[in-house]
Amino acid sequence: MPTRLSLTWNESMEVGNAIIDSDHKETVALLVEAADADDAELPALFARFAEHLRDHLAREEELMLAFGFPPYPVHFNEHERVRRELDGIEERLARGNLALARGYLTEVVPDWFINHKNTMDSATAAWIRRQGG
Ligand SMILES: [Fe+2]
Ligand SMILES: [Fe+2]
Repeated sequence: MPTRLSLTWNESMEVGNAIIDSDHKETVALLVEAADADDAELPALFARFAEHLRDHLAREEELMLAFGFPPYPVHFNEHERVRRELDGIEERLARGNLALARGYLTEVVPDWFINHKNTMDSATAAWIRRQGG
């Protein structure tokens, strides 16, 4: 049975960069949709969430490079770790492991997202603001 994921976007979650905040708002929306999906809908909604997350991470990397964010490698390496994790879950979901994908969406991603947003993404947004971006 699908579990209800209690995560909702609100303005206190903003990091102060319009591009990043817009992506984060979409991340929360797509995450909740995928986490709450029934078994029939889960593969397609997981794919939609994963595609968005890859674009979201790539957009942050473009911003970091454009504004010369000094700890770029640290933030990039964490994104790489998440991309590898996502690849692994997708492979197992494709082989029918719905429970793993559901557990990832409800138990792993929400905590990671909040923590990552509050640390690396906030630091990135603050740096961009200091550069006048
Ligand atoms: Fe982010
Ligand atoms: Fe990030």
